[in-house]
Amino acid sequence: MMTFDLILKNINLPDGQRGVDIACSGGLITAVEHGIEAEAKEVIYGDGHLVSPPFIDPHFHMDATLSLGTPRMNVSGTLLEGISLWGELKPVQSIDQIIERALRYCDLAVSMGIGAIRSHVDVCDNELKGVEALLEVRNQVGHYLDLQLVAFPQDGVFRDPTAYDNLIRALDMGIDIVGGIPHFERSMQDGADSVKALCELAENRGLMVDMHCDESDDPLSRHIETLAYETKRLGMQGRVAGSHLTSMHSMDNYYVSKLIPLMAEAELHAIPNPLINIMLQGRHDTYPKRRGQTRVPELKAAMINVGFGSDCVMDPWYSLGKADMLDVAHMGLHVGQLSSRSDMAWCFDAVTQNSAKIMGLEGYGLKKGSKANMVLLQARDTIEAIRLRATRLAVIRSGKVIARASPVVSSLNLRGRPETVDPTQYAPD
Ligand code: FE2
Repeated sequence: MMTFDLILKNINLPDGQRGVDIACSGGLITAVEHGIEAEAKEVIYGDGHLVSPPFIDPHFHMDATLSLGTPRMNVSGTLLEGISLWGELKPVQSIDQIIERALRYCDLAVSMGIGAIRSHVDVCDNELKGVEALLEVRNQVGHYLDLQLVAFPQDGVFRDPTAYDNLIRALDMGIDIVGGIPHFERSMQDGADSVKALCELAENRGLMVDMHCDESDDPLSRHIETLAYETKRLGMQGRVAGSHLTSMHSMDNYYVSKLIPLMAEAELHAIPNPLINIMLQGRHDTYPKRRGQTRVPELKAAMINVGFGSDCVMDPWYSLGKADMLDVAHMGLHVGQLSSRSDMAWCFDAVTQNSAKIMGLEGYGLKKGSKANMVLLQARDTIEAIRLRATRLAVIRSGKVIARASPVVSSLNLRGRPETVDPTQYAPD
């Protein structure tokens, strides 16, 4: 009889299948069936809990993470004070400090079931300390976490005099993806020109593009239109992502009715960052105060691929966060009013398979032949996982358990007899 490396028994799948078994060997999923009877080096009894492919974070800043309070706190809480605070930290932090913080964050991310992260790395530093540090981190974590790096000119690829040269150097050193920040350039025209130049650069090198695009409440910040145009012109459909896209929230409806089909035609990916943008946007408003999220239901309806990113954890822009993509999905669901059963389930896709598509991850999923990368959650289905921000009972990479946590169950004695409360016992059947 064949001996598998690992069998998970009696688990539920994100697509609604219940009571399934998954067998793994050689780092791959080799069977997904009911009632697998075989030997295995390790057996996990899932007890009707949900197994998902790993969470994927398609937008993060690993060069800044866990730096909260260094050299000082962001008092106003705004995006712009965050950028200037980051400008104070960059010259005084060492490569070793960036590496140490990033590795600690990767440990946290893995424990929370994240299997891949796309991180922007600021190239507006002539020493390229962040680039050097995160390339080292990418090497070190490669066997347990896929790290994709974006060359990100935080201070503007034209606005900062050495940013373009630094960006080229970063790509030459091995950074994967071309980034940008058109709304931060000096003028609308410079912003549009930056999108054109950076897309041409990426196309020449055969790279993907992921721009911070229109992270602004200005309804006239329309660089996403240029990004769609350049993507189509250069034949880069499916390889370009627009991150944040918050100005779309404030745009005129008529204009958006033209814009979204252009985005769909260019096969752009959209990456809203719900936690950060609900915190940072609308800061110039009194009341009513705008929400800080792009038009997720409308993008979804146009079949545009949308993946939610976490963006920041404990850094100059955001004091909170714990690498919990279910927290991100929970916020994205609320801000986007995605409250139907199918929309809530879609929010789980937006932190798993949609983002895997953005990153172009191969072998992602729970099919026979997929990589044996999974997370066992203390929840029976995807909606319950979001509702509970479910405990990650086991994180599996290449068919091996690399992180475990105990289920959250409370013991109490209120009516003269002991009871236990398991948060998963309240879901509708
Ligand atoms: Fe960002």
